Amino acid sequence: MTRHFLNLADAGGDGLAAMLGDALDRKAARSGWPKGHADADAPLAGHVLAMVFEKNSTRTRVSFDVAMRQLGGSAITLESGTSQLGRGETIADTARVLSRMVDAIMLRTDDHAKIEELAHHATVPVINGLTDESHPCQIMADLLTLLERGKALPGLEVAWLGDGNNVLNSIIEAAGLLRFNVRVGTPRGYEPDAGYIDRARALGAMISLTNDAAEAARGADVVVTDTWVSMGQDHAHNKLAAMAPFQVDQQLMGLAKESATFLHCLPAHRGDEVTDAVIDGPQSAVWDEAENRIHAQKSVLRWVFGQL
Ligand code: CP
Ligand code: NVA
Repeated sequence: MTRHFLNLADAGGDGLAAMLGDALDRKAARSGWPKGHADADAPLAGHVLAMVFEKNSTRTRVSFDVAMRQLGGSAITLESGTSQLGRGETIADTARVLSRMVDAIMLRTDDHAKIEELAHHATVPVINGLTDESHPCQIMADLLTLLERGKALPGLEVAWLGDGNNVLNSIIEAAGLLRFNVRVGTPRGYEPDAGYIDRARALGAMISLTNDAAEAARGADVVVTDTWVSMGQDHAHNKLAAMAPFQVDQQLMGLAKESATFLHCLPAHRGDEVTDAVIDGPQSAVWDEAENRIHAQKSVLRWVFGQL
C-alpha cells in the first residue's frame, strides 16, 4: 500500500509523533555539518523526488531539495509554466509518467482535489507541499520548533490571529491528532474550514472561535499568524481593513504568556499581519521554524517510504 502525505491525518497521531522524534534525533546527529552533506546512514540513497510547483515557493522548494540531499537522494523541480502540466497534460497522466521516473512526488497546487487525483493515479508516494486547503509539511516544522523550545504539545494553548487559511486548517488538524487547543481569532467571515474544526473537536481538541483578537491571544502559549492574502487570492480592500485589528504587535503579543513563542510560516508581510518588533523580537522563532522545514520533511519522506 503506497503511503501518501496529503494531510496530517494520513499519518495519525502516532505517525506524527514518530516523525517528530526522528526529526529531533536526526537534526541533533548532524549539528554543524555542511548543509548538503548526507547523513551517516543516507536512508534514501538512490531515491529521486519530483517537486511540482503550480505556485511560487522559496522554503518548500529549497527545504525538500536539501532534505533529499541529506537523506542521500536527490530532487528534480518541475513548474507548471515550463512543464506540460501548464499546457494541459492531465494530472492523471502526469502521475503515471512521474511514477515511472521518480520514487516520490511533492506537489504544490491550488485545488486540493488535484493532489487527491495525483495520489489516486500515482504508484509512488505523494506529498502535499501546500494546497488552498492545507499545508501539513509546514505544521510539522512548527511542531518541531515548539518541541525544541520545551513545549509539550498536549494541552498547549495555540492562538491564531488573522485569516482562516490553509495553514490554520492544518494547525487545527494537528490539534486533534496531538491533543492541543487552538483559539482562532479571525474577522467575521474569515473562519477556517468547518470540517477541520469538527474533526479536531471529535478527537478531543478544544477549538474556540472568536472575532476578538485580544480574547484569542490572552494567556496563549503560542501565537501564530500568516499572510492576510494567500497565493491565488485577491488583495480585496475590505479584507485588509477587516484584518487590521488582528495584526500581531507588541501589545497583542503582551497578552499571551510571557514565555509565549511567536510563529509565522513566512513569507511575512511586515507591517500587515505582524510588526517588525514582534517578528524580530525575543519571542519569535521564525528562523528556526524555517530551518525546521528541512528536518521535519526528512522525517515525512522517511515516513512515506515506510522507514518510520
Ligand atoms: N512557508 C512556506 O511554505 O514557504 P514557501 O512558500 O516559500 O515555500
Ligand atoms: N497561506 C499562505 C501560505 C504560504 C506559505 C498561502 O497559501 O499563500
